[in-house]
Amino acid sequence: MGNFIVTTIRKPDSATEILAEEISLKLGGQLIERKDLSFDTLKKIHGAENILLVKKNSLSVITAEGELFFHPNTAHLRIKNLRGGEGDRLIDALKISAGSKVLDCTLGLGSDAIVESFIVGDSGKVVALEINPLIAEVVSYGLKNFSEDSPHILEAMRRVEVINADCKEYLKTCADDSFDVVYFDPMFRRPIQKSSGLNPIRPLADARPLTEEIIREACRVAKFRVVMKEHSGNAEFERLGFKVADGGKYSSIAFGVIEK
Ligand SMILES: C[S@@+](CC[C@H](N)C(=O)[O-])C[C@H]1O[C@@H](n2cnc3c(N)ncnc32)[C@H](O)[C@@H]1O
Repeated sequence: MGNFIVTTIRKPDSATEILAEEISLKLGGQLIERKDLSFDTLKKIHGAENILLVKKNSLSVITAEGELFFHPNTAHLRIKNLRGGEGDRLIDALKISAGSKVLDCTLGLGSDAIVESFIVGDSGKVVALEINPLIAEVVSYGLKNFSEDSPHILEAMRRVEVINADCKEYLKTCADDSFDVVYFDPMFRRPIQKSSGLNPIRPLADARPLTEEIIREACRVAKFRVVMKEHSGNAEFERLGFKVADGGKYSSIAFGVIEK
């Protein structure tokens, strides 16, 4: 995750200071008093690559590529479309409905997990794994505390269970058929520059390719299917044994499926 420090906004209230202390203890990054210093100065003085910034009611990470923060905006739009009777390509590929159990192995900024959670509802379950502790902390805090959205979206956010773990290790601990579907959205092999919304995640995210062993374990853990999102025409689908279910005729993104 690179070397990081924890600090606050310039004039923190006491709740923000306490949260910063808790997070520093939990994640092990040194807690630094902000004073009136800029992020660049703080990074230089402390030799830190990243800064975990504690604000009033939210967290973010200042990376070399910009600020990584949680916001449900793309999930918001997709849920609005779903409620309006339109489809969602991920949901169609996962084939999930109310009550389904989903293991989302790549939380990232959490948009897909929120949409999955909206669909599976109270009677279902979404467990989302994220290997990078800073991304996991910022996004799980946001999912629990973000408050400016409609109740059905906030409820979907609150239901996502985030676990800071490597999916390779976590899958080994799961029983056979313990989730209905297992989903992967790895960092694209070839970055799409125009999706600049994802740029601040790049310095933190794990971009190693999935292995055949991970997919084998996912097939054991999934009762019905394993789904992966990648670029259309990407060789990863064939290498890992996925059949492209939705080739993305009008999009550069495709979904591959392994049915059990
Ligand atoms: C492309 S992003 C996922 C985006 C997400 N689907 C969304 O809707 O925001 C991929 C994420 O998976 C994480 N990741 C990569 N390898 C992982 C692994 N082995 N276990 C858990 N998380 C992993 C990366 O750190 C990154 O945050």
